Amino acid sequence: MTAYPKTTALMRRGAEFLGTEYAIMCGAMSWVSERNLVSAISNAGGFGVIACGAMTPDLLDAEIAGTKALTDKPFGVNLITMHPMLFELIEVCGKHGVGHVVLAGGIPPKGSVEAIKSFGAKVVVFAPTLALAKKLLRSGGDALVIEGMEAGGHIGPVSTSVLAQEFLPALSEEHLVFVAGGIGRGEAMAGYLEMGAVGVQLGTRFACAVESIAHENFKKAFFRAGARDAVASVQVDPRLPVIPVRALKNKGTELFTAKQREVAKTLDEGAIEMAEAQLQIEHYWAGALRRAVIDGDIENGSLMAGQSVGMVKEEEPVAQIMDTLMAESEAALSRR
Ligand SMILES: Cc1cc2nc3c(=O)[nH]c(=O)nc-3n(C[C@H](O)[C@H](O)[C@H](O)COP(=O)(O)O)c2cc1C
Repeated sequence: MTAYPKTTALMRRGAEFLGTEYAIMCGAMSWVSERNLVSAISNAGGFGVIACGAMTPDLLDAEIAGTKALTDKPFGVNLITMHPMLFELIEVCGKHGVGHVVLAGGIPPKGSVEAIKSFGAKVVVFAPTLALAKKLLRSGGDALVIEGMEAGGHIGPVSTSVLAQEFLPALSEEHLVFVAGGIGRGEAMAGYLEMGAVGVQLGTRFACAVESIAHENFKKAFFRAGARDAVASVQVDPRLPVIPVRALKNKGTELFTAKQREVAKTLDEGAIEMAEAQLQIEHYWAGALRRAVIDGDIENGSLMAGQSVGMVKEEEPVAQIMDTLMAESEAALSRR
């Protein structure tokens, strides 16, 4: 017997796929989604995902082992497709028998999906357009996450509500689709489940949980912030293909604009190639996020946060957040 029969019924396919009680994923958040938060999410019935980010294979190896020591429930690993050691990282996942690998940050390079499937893991993909989603699901993707621009971190240009209307009717009968971006309460979760999603992915709502190792200053900045403080970065130079990032505005967001100008200038001077320019921008974000999450430098660091940050008001245990989301969803569905 479940306390949330209507919600769990709509989540059934997603929960079966993840091997969890609830089809609620906590999206990988670099520096935040490490062993403590990931195991807490999985122990509370959801699906935690380790953010590999720029980790080396050795670091990922240690993080997976550390997570396994804290939970015997399923969890996933998020790998960034442009990581220069992607295939070594996949091997580490294989060594540990990781059940689900989430491929983020672009089109999976040739052979990566096959490499993941070779040890029996499921592949979760992101896609910005319906055509690409169909292609990735045809070529080995087992499930899809659609993520709207309300989300924290790197974002696309389209809102979650529009993506959901475009993707869910077209895909949900045959495929497993999870919805992410801007979900702060269970009522919204219920809405997407009714539209055909098999589950949801949240980041911002979990970033400041008791079990999150994020610095106290980082958490306090979240509790103070409202939706309109979580702004998307601006692109200074049209040649620089900067993927916008949503973060709380601070000195760091201004510094990022300056960084783009600096990189654009070196491009002008022919001192670096475009790929190197892009890499420098990505490194900037990784360093800036670490400064805020780990060191607590909320002025110069990057406070990546989604628009749902206004609904994050206090430090709560993961299990409580999970119960609140499920109860809100259930109440909404019961009122229908
Ligand atoms: C602080 C922070 C860091 C993030 N880092 C990553 C990351 O490294 N890789 C990734 O695929 N997504 C990353 N995301 C996106 C989340 O995985 C998730 O999809 C997103 O937060 C969902 O939207 P929401 O913030 O509105 O809940 C990050 C989000 C935040 C808030």
